[in-house]
Amino acid sequence: MKALILSGGYGTRLRPLTYSQQKQLIPVANKPVLFYAIEDVIEIGVKEIGIILGPNKEQVIETVNSKNWNVDIEFIYQGEPKGLAHAILVAEEFLDDDEFVMYLGDNILKDGITNHAQKFKELNPDSLILLTYVDDPQRFGVAELDSEGKVKRLVEKPKEFISNYALVGIYFFKPIIIEACKSIKPSWRNELEITDAIQWLIENGYRVEASIVKGWWKDTGKPEDILEANRLILDDIESKNEGIINNSTITGRVIIESGSTIENSVIKGPCIIGRDTKIVNSYIGPYTSIGSNCLIEEMEIEDSVIMDECVLTNAGRIIESLIGKNVKIQKCISKPRGYRIVVGDYSNIEMR
Ligand code: G1P
Repeated sequence: MKALILSGGYGTRLRPLTYSQQKQLIPVANKPVLFYAIEDVIEIGVKEIGIILGPNKEQVIETVNSKNWNVDIEFIYQGEPKGLAHAILVAEEFLDDDEFVMYLGDNILKDGITNHAQKFKELNPDSLILLTYVDDPQRFGVAELDSEGKVKRLVEKPKEFISNYALVGIYFFKPIIIEACKSIKPSWRNELEITDAIQWLIENGYRVEASIVKGWWKDTGKPEDILEANRLILDDIESKNEGIINNSTITGRVIIESGSTIENSVIKGPCIIGRDTKIVNSYIGPYTSIGSNCLIEEMEIEDSVIMDECVLTNAGRIIESLIGKNVKIQKCISKPRGYRIVVGDYSNIEMR
């Protein structure tokens, strides 16, 4: 089996971060979201992975190639993002006549995909879709099931309620899906929807089975989703300390990576502190991920994601925040007093 992992799209709901970073590279517990997908497909024994690229293609290639995955990885450029079914057509040559798992690179699944891969093998359908119960089905592709749990109908972002079972962004396919993708028309959002291609399979007598996701699943499309995925991943970490701790109190599960120093500070897990970061006279509270090469001094930070190379000093208490790379937040004592802010387009600042 091959894998097709999608790492394109503009990520508009994550602006301004996505002006400079591809959304699948945003870190959750200090690891790019995309890496969770790569690890999951490798875990089920996939040896050939195609990664679909979009706007920031060089960045994705460089980040993926920074690790030795021990599998063949082929990068496939999608050009304009014209939908998930379009991504399959762009990858037609790579996919050849093999079955494959398609994994949206901004999705994270707690328990990986081993059980679902097993089910695909056992039931041997033309497609196995992963479903999960959600309270807001209008945000997703949705499946209507019959009384025996068989898939009757799929609708992308339904305006009227049909069911609470949303399509998780992970799909198993036989090669017939390529014909389905070629047979459908673009949707109202002008995309070739994978949901419509799977509906085509149903309408043309092919067998589509569903597998229900039991653990948590997150589509990290929005800032709140990244923070929530960060909490969920940190909930499962094991403590590890490779740094230097001076006169500080560390409680709960905390990962401190090599080269980092913690001085006169309180760290309350679960949290992770990346490489070569310095934390001085500060409080770092639960559900915080701090990247590499940061300086945090005289701060309180809780329930937040702070990316690499940030300098945060003496600037009060930061909560529920998502802070990109190379950001400086500092207290200045010069006059006149007031907030002096240089922020990118679509930034969101709440002064509580
Ligand atoms: C896409 C799919 C949708 C699925 C979702 C899961 O939505 O079209 O069916 O439920 O991913 O993440 P999009 O992220 O394009 O809105």
